[in-house]
Amino acid sequence: MNNTELQTKGSREQFKTRFGFIMAVAGSAVGLGNIWRFPYITGVHGGGAFVIIYLVSIFIIGATIALTEMAIGRHGGSDVVEAYGQYDKRFRIPGFLSMIAVTVLMSFYNIIGGWSIYYFIQIISGKFTGISSGEVESIFGNFIVNSPRVAIFTIIFLAVNTIVIVKGITEGIERVSSIVMPALFVLLIVLVIRSLTLPGAKEGVIWYLKPDFSKVTGSTIVAAVGQAFFTLSLGSGAMATYASYLSKDESLPKATYSVVITDTLVALLAGLAILPAVFAFGVSPGEGPGLVFVTLPSIFGKIPFGAFFGAMFFAFFFFAALTSSISMLEVSVTYLIEKKRWREKKRPLL
Ligand code: PFF
Repeated sequence: MNNTELQTKGSREQFKTRFGFIMAVAGSAVGLGNIWRFPYITGVHGGGAFVIIYLVSIFIIGATIALTEMAIGRHGGSDVVEAYGQYDKRFRIPGFLSMIAVTVLMSFYNIIGGWSIYYFIQIISGKFTGISSGEVESIFGNFIVNSPRVAIFTIIFLAVNTIVIVKGITEGIERVSSIVMPALFVLLIVLVIRSLTLPGAKEGVIWYLKPDFSKVTGSTIVAAVGQAFFTLSLGSGAMATYASYLSKDESLPKATYSVVITDTLVALLAGLAILPAVFAFGVSPGEGPGLVFVTLPSIFGKIPFGAFFGAMFFAFFFFAALTSSISMLEVSVTYLIEKKRWREKKRPLL
């Protein structure tokens, strides 16, 4: 290593606090997967029975791989490509591929993130209040084919990501995650209370959590393990990248388990925020965009103060998408910083 290289290494930023690191990694973990996939697959695969299988998957397989990825990342002290390549140059290839994969995933995430901003504005301005489900569906249908409008909101979402990333690890990612994640949790709790106190909410809780082992099949295991991987952002380089900015004095196992617990709690609570409301209105539950952008807005349009709770929901959704998307973008940004020495030029040296 020559002098400049040493200086660059030496000047690498680090997360200031363990809390900040945990919030950043939990921010990556908590995302669309927790909100629009976990509740649905839980209900479909036998409720409480699925939860048990999921807990085993995430605590044994998920946490172990997350810990390994973080250990590799921290030891590498660089981007994900170099982190894998430190053991054998050929391992740079999977490192590189994970970076490509997460960048592709990010393009999808940014569009959905943009949708959430649009929906936040629409719902708070009362656009969904008192309208029929058919009208909500056509608002969604018309919006997603309106490319210029979708592009504008995608760019806004991406711009927010970029501002955070440009500010750097501590001033950007750590600070934003430390504010956004607790706020997300508070919003979620309020939404859970609102949902559980709707008349007829019980049906939803039963569908969601009542154990039914007869629904457990081979595909249940695949769903549980797949969800554990996706929700912990595994194989994407995000964990390795974030951990490369963590001080060697911090305990990785502690951080990992804190993240896994936070993520699981948010996933379980998201189901309690969504499904009781869905059942209270006699709608059949679903997953993905239909659930978040059609089913839920039409419910918010019908409950008292729905515009207020709807705005809370889309703020929650936006925060979840934002902190995940930031971690995706940081993978390639860290790579470029290391490769092109952008650190000296573009980000504050701390
Ligand atoms: N963990 C995110 C979710 O559950 O939605 C998805 C994700 C985020 C995957 C960040 C990969 C990543 F780098």
